Amino acid sequence: MKRILLLNASAKNNGATEEILSIIKKEICDSYIVDSFCLGDLNISYCKGCKSCYKTCKCTQNDDVDVLISAMDSADIFVICAPSYWGDVPGQFKVFIDRCTVYSNTNPNPNRPVLQSGKKCYGIALRTGLRAMECEHIIECIHHWCGHMEVEMADSLYFCGINSKEDITVEKGHIVEKCDEWFT
Ligand SMILES: Cc1cc2nc3c(=O)[nH]c(=O)nc-3n(C[C@H](O)[C@H](O)[C@H](O)COP(=O)(O)O)c2cc1C
Repeated sequence: MKRILLLNASAKNNGATEEILSIIKKEICDSYIVDSFCLGDLNISYCKGCKSCYKTCKCTQNDDVDVLISAMDSADIFVICAPSYWGDVPGQFKVFIDRCTVYSNTNPNPNRPVLQSGKKCYGIALRTGLRAMECEHIIECIHHWCGHMEVEMADSLYFCGINSKEDITVEKGHIVEKCDEWFT
């Protein structure tokens, strides 16, 4: 069975972001092994910018980045779902992205640790406002992370006008359709 990692890229593990991921989980759990993470439940410190990982191929900090990266390395597919915070990705997600510097193809050390090849990522963004541009920016951030982690960004989806998890109810059909398209 292939393995899918669902990542709630915010601190809130019971809102609209989580609701989207729960619908996906329900749709795929009979056909895939599913691992779920919410960044808010993990202990991830911000990058100090020391670049010692360029020399040592290791971060000076030991925290849950290792847990998440190890789960990512075991997964075939990632689904990363992020709400817009101030027109950008939530701070917790940016902190995680910065901490991926050791694994990134911008790390000049040829011995850097890398994710196994052949992984795919699906990005999902949501926001309260109605203009699509802000969600497209979130998707672009996920795409940018994929590029430097050498993961294929397979597709994306976004929702505008979302205030709370109740607003996801009307989107359920659309999410289920996407699951059929992406995961069967
Ligand atoms: C700190 C914060 C900042 C936000 N900034 C924006 C924003 O800039 N644009 C927007 O459309 N929605 C913004 N929102 C609304 C969220 O994107 C929206 O409510 C989303 O559904 C939250 O998902 P959640 O329920 O999983 O937390 C913000 C919410 C919070 C908590």
